[in-house]
Order: sequence, then C-alpha cells, then structure tokens
Amino acid sequence: MESKDFFLLLHPAIAVFFVFPLIGIVTNFAWATRQRRLQSLSGGKSKIPPVVGQEHVQLGRWLTGSVVGISLLGLAFAIFSKMLEKQVITQEPLRFYFVIAMCVATIISLYFLYLAKTPTWRGIFATLTGMGLILLGCQPEVYRRGNEWYVSHYYYGITASMLMIFSLAILQDIYKDRQNRWRTVHIILNCVALLLFIGQGMTGARDLLEIPLSWQEQHINKLYELQCNIKPCTIQLSPESKRSFN
Ligand code: HEM
Ligand code: HEM
Repeated sequence: MESKDFFLLLHPAIAVFFVFPLIGIVTNFAWATRQRRLQSLSGGKSKIPPVVGQEHVQLGRWLTGSVVGISLLGLAFAIFSKMLEKQVITQEPLRFYFVIAMCVATIISLYFLYLAKTPTWRGIFATLTGMGLILLGCQPEVYRRGNEWYVSHYYYGITASMLMIFSLAILQDIYKDRQNRWRTVHIILNCVALLLFIGQGMTGARDLLEIPLSWQEQHINKLYELQCNIKPCTIQLSPESKRSFN
C-alpha cells in the first residue's frame, strides 16, 4: 500500500474502531442517565447506579475531542494531499502556512475550551474552535459537495463537530439550570447529532468508494473525465489487456 493510500484510510479507520464505539457507549450512558433521573423524579428508587451521569460526561468530553480530531484529520488529509500534488507551497506559500497555523490554532483553542471555567471564556474558545474548522473547510481543496449539500459528508461532519463543541461549552450550564432548559436543549441537539453520525457512516462509506487508491487513480479519473458517473459509457479493453485477461 502506498503512503498516500495509508493516510486516506487513517481517518475512516479511526472513525470505525474508535469514534463510533465511543458514540455507542456515550449514548448508552445518556439513556441510563435519563432513565435514572425520570425514575427518581417519579418517586421510585432507581436500580440504575448514580455513576452513569458522570460516566456519560467523562466519555462525552472524550467524544468532543475525538469528533473534532477526526474532522481535522479528514480536512488536513484532503487539503495537504492535494496541496502537495499541485505544489501549492511554491505557488501560494502564504496559504500553505495559513492552513498549518489554522490546524494548530484549532487544536489549541479546543485545549483551552477544556480548561475554561467562566461562560465568557467557554464561549470564546468554542467559537474559535468552530471557526478554525470552518476556515479549514473553506479551502478550495475540500470537496464539499455543495450541489448535494443534503448528503454531504463535509456538511454533516462540520455540523456534528459544532454540536459536540457546543455540548462541551454548555456542560456546566446543564447542571446549574434548575429548570432543565439547557438539559432539554442538550438532548434535542444531540439527538440531531446522532442522526448526523449515522449519516457520516453512510456518506463516508460512499466517499471511500468514490475515491480511488493510487493504482486505480488514472483509470478512475478517466471515467470521471468521460462523465461515466452521470451518463452511460462503454469501456473497451486494449488488445494486450484482453490477452492477459484470458
Ligand atoms: C451522542 C451524543 C450525546 C447524546 C445523545 C447525549 C444525550 C444526553 C442525555 C439523553 C442526557 C440525559 C438527560 C436527562 O437527564 O434527561 C444527557 C446528559 C448530559 N450530557 Fe449528554 N449526550 C451526548 C453527548 C454529550 C457530550 C459530548 C457532553 C459533554 C462534553 C455531554 C454532557 C452531558 C451532561 C453534563 C449531562 C448531564 C448529566 C447528569 O445529569 O449527570 N453529553 N446527555
Ligand atoms: C464521526 C464520524 C466522522 C466525521 C465527523 C467525519 C468528518 C469528516 C470531514 C470533516 C472530512 C473532510 C471533508 C470531506 O472531504 O468531506 C472527512 C473526509 C472523509 N471522510 Fe469522514 N468523518 C467521519 C466518519 C467517516 C467514516 C465512517 C468514513 C468511511 C467509512 C469516512 C470517510 C471519509 C473520506 C473517504 C473522506 C474524504 C477524504 C478526502 O476528501 O480526501 N469518514 N470526514
């Protein structure tokens, strides 16, 4: 396997073996937390241990970092693989270094969001982290599928990342609010995030099938050039390849 192919597969592989199992565990604890709270509210004694809430939050904090991290990885691969191919560093050195600075700034902002205590700082670092992702997503190397935005891996991924950042930013408000408004907001938004994660599984698998490995690239690109994806076309084998086929 060529190194470019390895880096292409790194993002989906981490999503499959780390992020999606984590989503499952966080959701399981979320369900238990809600069941326990509702059972206690209705006067009964719940059999669910009180620790489920803490477990949900602890792993939820990991989930935010993982989803933002995996989005950064997907964006960085898309941008740098094409930048190296087109030698952008010599043509647009400023943009090349800007992208590197944005990746670093986004990671630092997320780190400070984890540390921030006051609502103002949490708001500031959440905004900076989100802005970092969006600025990276605006680079021309990123295939955003704008004409089919409703099934776009990019738009689903960025929205899910924003929702995770928001969950981390309002973490303390969920506990402080006695009327449970932030709790309700959190539940609604994260149910949307769950649907987006399912969408990421579908659109990611589709994109993986559409992006060729190095050895397939020249042949697949020819198919795109001939627009075989939108109109019927016939592929003819050359006499040599016919012979080696038989
Ligand atoms: C898949 C994503 C998530 C889903 C579906 C989800 C859903 C839920 C649900 C259903 C509850 C229980 C609400 C209730 O008591 O009625 C909850 C509680 C909570 N969640 Fe999440 N959540 C997710 C991710 C996160 C993340 C990423 C964080 C923070 C980084 C977080 C922080 C919290 C907090 C602080 C509570 C209150 C826990 C308690 O009462 O002890 N959640 N969440
Ligand atoms: C939590 C789940 C995931 C998130 C948040 C996420 C996010 C992203 C983002 C933001 C990008 C860059 C924009 C783009 O090129 O579309 C991307 C690229 C990509 N993702 Fe994901 N993704 C997730 C899961 C997956 C899964 C499960 C797969 C495949 C099975 C996958 C396959 C890909 C592929 C093939 C690319 C394209 C890389 C390129 O353009 O060169 N992703 N992802």
